[in-house]
Amino acid sequence: MDIARTPSTPEGNPELADAAPEPKEPPVIRREDYEPFPWLVPQTALDFGLGLERTKVVARLTVERNPAAEPSATIHLNGDGLEPLEVEIDGTPTLEWSLEDGDLLLSLPGEKHEVRIVTEIDPSANSQLMGLYASGGMLCTQCEAEGFRRITFFPDRPDVLSVYTVSMRGPKDQFPILLCNGNETASGETEDGLRWADWHDPWPKPSYLFALVAGDLVAKSGTFTTMGGREVELNVWVREGDLDRTDHALESLRRAMKWDEETFGREYDLDLYNIVAVSDFNMGAMENKGLNVFNTKYVLADPETATDGDFDAVEGVIAHEYFHNWSGNRVTCRDWFQLSLKEGFTVLRDQLFSQDMQGEAVKRIEDVRVLRSVQFPEDSGPLAHPIRPDSFREISNFYTATVYNKGAEVIRMMRTMAGEERFRKGTDLYFNRHDGEAATCEDFVSAIEDGAGLDLQQFRLWYSQAGTPKVSVDLRHSGSTATLALRQVVPQTPDQSDKKPMPIPLRIALFDRETGRHGGEEVVVLDAAEGEWTFEGFDRAPVLSINRGFSAPVSIERRIEEADLVFLAAKDDDPFARYEAMQELVTGHLVAAAKGELSDDARSRARDFIGEAFGAILADEALDDQMRGELMMLPTQTYVTEQFDQADPQRVFEEREALKRTLGERFVEELRAMHDRASSVPYSLDAEARGARKVKTLALSFLAAADPADGAQRAERQYEAADNMTDRQGALMVLTGLEGPQRTRALLDFYERYRDNPLVIDKWFALQATSLHPKVIEHVKALAEHPDFTLRNPNRVRSLYMAFAGNPHGFHAADGEGYRLVTDLVLELDPINPQTAARFVPSLGRWRRIEPGRAAKMRAELERIAEAPSLSRDTYEQVTRSLG
Ligand code: TRP
Ligand code: ZN
Repeated sequence: MDIARTPSTPEGNPELADAAPEPKEPPVIRREDYEPFPWLVPQTALDFGLGLERTKVVARLTVERNPAAEPSATIHLNGDGLEPLEVEIDGTPTLEWSLEDGDLLLSLPGEKHEVRIVTEIDPSANSQLMGLYASGGMLCTQCEAEGFRRITFFPDRPDVLSVYTVSMRGPKDQFPILLCNGNETASGETEDGLRWADWHDPWPKPSYLFALVAGDLVAKSGTFTTMGGREVELNVWVREGDLDRTDHALESLRRAMKWDEETFGREYDLDLYNIVAVSDFNMGAMENKGLNVFNTKYVLADPETATDGDFDAVEGVIAHEYFHNWSGNRVTCRDWFQLSLKEGFTVLRDQLFSQDMQGEAVKRIEDVRVLRSVQFPEDSGPLAHPIRPDSFREISNFYTATVYNKGAEVIRMMRTMAGEERFRKGTDLYFNRHDGEAATCEDFVSAIEDGAGLDLQQFRLWYSQAGTPKVSVDLRHSGSTATLALRQVVPQTPDQSDKKPMPIPLRIALFDRETGRHGGEEVVVLDAAEGEWTFEGFDRAPVLSINRGFSAPVSIERRIEEADLVFLAAKDDDPFARYEAMQELVTGHLVAAAKGELSDDARSRARDFIGEAFGAILADEALDDQMRGELMMLPTQTYVTEQFDQADPQRVFEEREALKRTLGERFVEELRAMHDRASSVPYSLDAEARGARKVKTLALSFLAAADPADGAQRAERQYEAADNMTDRQGALMVLTGLEGPQRTRALLDFYERYRDNPLVIDKWFALQATSLHPKVIEHVKALAEHPDFTLRNPNRVRSLYMAFAGNPHGFHAADGEGYRLVTDLVLELDPINPQTAARFVPSLGRWRRIEPGRAAKMRAELERIAEAPSLSRDTYEQVTRSLG
């Protein structure tokens, strides 16, 4: 009831009076050291007296001995930056406690006790955005992974499941809406102007799934009737002015709920599902039970302010968080080493959902592009780790593309090997067997093994070995026999030198180059270092299509005639394989060109092959534009750079731009016609109109590369004609890379038009930071001084600096200025928001794979970070591993 003052000094515990300890190296936590917690916490009651600057928390925990654990006379409750203002055991105040590295140790003599602890926090001072924090006048929480310990003392580990009952109150004008997990059981107002609410969540959950939101919010509401006939109230909570941009989120949620019933047999289990959009958020969104908290970026969308890509991202993230209700919440993780248990599986589930919503081929290509341009570099660098890591210092650093995206690929391989139906039997068994438990990756594999009837003994290596396997391919032909020889190498990674061969399922097809057909696809599983397969009935040497649909997350190394790649790019009936052939053709050329290996003759021959394939793609009337767009896209700079032992990013950049220019020149008529055709398609969200918008901006970027003056005019026309963000952003993207008055005009117009919309202003920052403009570094420096720039908002920080760190042309500037900029940012951001600061370290950590001159500069900047006094655990760990 009271939010009145309580004494802020603890009563009488001497340990608290001690001066701050010497900074010491953060300890390494190891998977093999796991032990169950000695206490169960069946019930947790929390009482919040809410205030932006001062929130008082009273926690009452019922605890009893865990029969499955070693008994202990104390209970170890995690805390981070907290003081215990009052501690009671079974209703009696006690001084029998001590603090150790922020944690509270209490002696507990008996079998069962009630522990009551009072803490007080200042949400407005919480710039880390972990625990309870203030964002734009509201209060919200982020507890995964270890944020709950910043709210109250608790066994803050995912294997301690508890039933939560929560009471909260605060000034009703500031906090008219009070939300928590589960269902609201009572609410009201007091005569002295307080709003209060009681909530109860019947499902036992770990502390990382706790959430609370208090603020002045409005909801877009709807309902969903589950397959069992339960009517669920759905709400998407936003600030008042954002309400008309919530339809897509709500519809996406409905589609996700339906899909999970149909595809995985999973039904929602509460009467209420709340989503809250918050503008200050470290990640994309969070799956708290019954109360998801989202970055506004993944909720708000309308055609005027969100691109087609943004619409898809909203749908995908809404689905991802919803799917966690089973893969994460009902079955949770035993410890944080098992993170891929929920994240890898949930990413696979959201990918399959989006494939069904948006089209399988294009979605698969997009997912592979992300994997190869983000996860492959991670897997070949100093931060490489298995999808189930063996150790960490700071768990936030392991929310990675490896755990998420490679984790999804590993489960996808099981699905490929089992087939859809048997895979479903496996997941059914997993959910049934482990419902209500905190499980391990091993539990998941065993359930798939038992349910799907697979032998996954050797396959388990995918969980323990890091590094992207390399598969070399050789196809021979003699008489009527084709012989496929495969060989695998799993590269060395930090702490793992001796690798074993893993089972690699490869979908293959052998094409007759005259008929353009193949006699059926097969899955070959390479499960030894080498393997050979023979195929009969080929009078001519066939063309091999391999790793179709990207059936295994490996890199394929093969010698193949360019003519065969041109053939596959035009003829393969697997759309992914067509894309792949095109990528292989272009990547091969760019690598050779950037190495300086090409004679003028060879260069023009390669460009002819690429031109032939590109022309066929432009002309192919059977292709839809979304797929055509994928086939037109050049491989990303990072993917090409990955192919070198030591790359010169500037050379790769130049060759890639030169190829763009060549293609733009050669196909100027076709591209202009395409741009005109696409420009005449009216705006709608259907696939055809979306496809038109995709090829429109792609055509524009090739045209601008070929003829900047003409490109600028066309881009300005596209900008001015735009009635949606996809076209407008596309045009502005092209313009920011060019010189001239159109650039300035469009940037000014865009800013004025959207100055009140932070998500669109983020785009404005990001476009300038990713631009091809020669003065991009100066632009970024100036933008950092812009009145709208702030280090307190992670979206804004990322929009300027993540965008810049991913812009090879700026980041890898030969004088090292790009590295310096990012390093200065890390140092300045680390004390404010360590989690976000640490995410910038990996770009510098790539130094070993960059040519020696730049590598030395990158390393020197890492050392500058390492020498800084009192680094966060997050940044400390990433920097030491990167230098390692
Ligand atoms: N579990 C979240 C997801 O993937 C991830 C997440 C959201 C997170 N916020 C976080 C992880 C903060 C660490 C810290 O859906
Ligand atoms: Zn997730």
